[in-house]
Amino acid sequence: SKLKIGMVVGSNSKQSINRKLAEGLARLIQDQADVTFIDIGHLPLYNRDFDGTPEFKPFDELKAQVRNCDGLLFITPEHNRSIPAPLKNALDGLSRPYGQAAWNGIPAAVIGTSPGGPATSMAQQHLRNVFVFLDMPTMQQPEGFVRWSDDLIDAQGNIGPASHDFLNKYMSHFLAWVRKHPKQ
Ligand code: FNR
Repeated sequence: SKLKIGMVVGSNSKQSINRKLAEGLARLIQDQADVTFIDIGHLPLYNRDFDGTPEFKPFDELKAQVRNCDGLLFITPEHNRSIPAPLKNALDGLSRPYGQAAWNGIPAAVIGTSPGGPATSMAQQHLRNVFVFLDMPTMQQPEGFVRWSDDLIDAQGNIGPASHDFLNKYMSHFLAWVRKHPKQ
């Protein structure tokens, strides 16, 4: 049966290049996976006073979506050489209340794009650090440091020819990783 893959885009920009990349990656695996986008942009800034109150509801709704996935792909920009605040907010909010995190045991991978040379590599490393504590089995190789250029995605929204083979291979490895690490 098809794998259920959740895609978490770490940007809440309406013009997000990472969202464009994520949509292109989703198309690469559409025959093998049902892809859901886990939207984090509407979440309020989490604080622990929300726990057990109606203010936690948007976090609870996303926790259910996350738990329903066999694997999660994080497609993130880099903000000041680290994890963008909206993404950290989602990771934190969905990790609570204590002992009831949504994330643990779900196999994951990290990828991201930026026009700059380091291509989100430092944000991705910071994210991997967080995933250790969240106990998410995270694919180590291949890494996905994608330098953005306007032809990364073609006019139809598909991955363009220059990066197609690399990204197709990345996604095959990711699906194999998810199959090898059934969610706990
Ligand atoms: C950036 N950008 C950026 N790029 C990068 O490669 N390394 C970085 O550390 C940063 N820092 C940074 C901070 C903030 C607050 C913003 C808004 C942007 C530029 C970033 O790569 C560019 O805006 C991308 O378009 C962001 O991805 P999305 O949001 O379009 O998916």
